[in-house]
Amino acid sequence: MVKLFINGYGNIGKRLASAVFMDNEIELVGIAKYTLDEKIQEALDNDYKVYVPENKIGQFKDKGFPIAGTIDEACNKSDLIIDAAKEGGGFENKVKFYEPLQKPAIFQGGEDRNGRYSVAEMIHNSRVNYEKASGKKYVIQGSCNVSGMGRLMQPLIERFGNQIKRFDVTLIRRWADLEDSKEVKDSIEWDKNPHHQEDVKDFIPDANLFVDALKVPSRMMHVHQMIIRFDNKAPSKDTLLELFRDEFGVALFSSAKGTADVRKRAIELGYPHGDTHMVHIHQEVLRVQDDVAKITYSDDQTGMVIPENYLLVQSMCFKRARSDAIKRADRIFQMTRRKKELEEVFK
Ligand SMILES: NC(=O)c1ccc[n+]([C@@H]2O[C@H](COP(=O)([O-])OP(=O)(O)OC[C@H]3O[C@@H](n4cnc5c(N)ncnc54)[C@H](OP(=O)(O)O)[C@@H]3O)[C@@H](O)[C@H]2O)c1
Repeated sequence: MVKLFINGYGNIGKRLASAVFMDNEIELVGIAKYTLDEKIQEALDNDYKVYVPENKIGQFKDKGFPIAGTIDEACNKSDLIIDAAKEGGGFENKVKFYEPLQKPAIFQGGEDRNGRYSVAEMIHNSRVNYEKASGKKYVIQGSCNVSGMGRLMQPLIERFGNQIKRFDVTLIRRWADLEDSKEVKDSIEWDKNPHHQEDVKDFIPDANLFVDALKVPSRMMHVHQMIIRFDNKAPSKDTLLELFRDEFGVALFSSAKGTADVRKRAIELGYPHGDTHMVHIHQEVLRVQDDVAKITYSDDQTGMVIPENYLLVQSMCFKRARSDAIKRADRIFQMTRRKKELEEVFK
């Protein structure tokens, strides 16, 4: 039994909590709350123990919430912490809690891999370097965009290797998640220096990869356009689709109208949090011309990284073989069933 604490209860933290709660080999010590808001009651209703910063205990208790203890106490009780702080908050938590208590931790994709505020020695992508995370103390789970790129690039590299000259990926990123209350500005913004390029190169160092990122006023999902340039003629469309047909966490659609179509269908089908956990290749716009193939796919930003974090726990703590870990993940996240259902809906 691994005792796990989730430090943060936002869009990612709440998804992680509901997933690990279903695993009988993981004991969820609890979740952290920093702000007095309605999400505390939501966590208590889900039977999660709630831990808060020491200097806020009085404030939370005065409002009548049964608080289980401080963040420090929760970390102390745990074998592993999944840090789900808002972007950039992980470094402070590492210095304040995880290092002094000598506790291993998983960080999210909004944290730095390099430089002064680096939190970990590697970025995990379950399709590429699952085994490397085994027994490690601090690991970043790649962000949704980074996880999605790795999920498609690795099979392409394994199959076509040196025949691939370069990858150019344009990330069309959603502005906010459906649950976020922040304003969605009527603007398209560009990123001067997208972190995703270096993040992917952390686990695929030889990739000749160039990434641009645009943020658009939508809440539904990301869309990526991946252009793969080959030395000679690009493989046929059928060959490319065949390569991804049985990939875990990759679905092939033909008739979705857009990201809202996919998200709304996932919600209608009753998937927890409306997540598909997958990237969805849109076959009708997969184009091959001369030496170039262009793959357009949507990437379920909030859902993608939850099975990835779960798999990372399987590697770091349980040191389980990847094939077993994937089976366990599939039982919890039902990804094979969802893939089948959604491929039928969007055939
Ligand atoms: N959203 C996505 O689609 C997505 C996808 C992949 C990766 N990520 C990454 O996952 C991380 C979390 O993103 P999110 O979307 O879940 O953010 P979020 O919804 O804004 O939630 C952030 C959480 O951090 C908590 N918090 C505040 N101070 C904290 C501290 N010192 N330590 C720990 N937690 C603290 C907040 O708690 P209170 O509410 O109590 O203040 C809040 O619950 C980021 O690194 C992000 O880049 C996000």
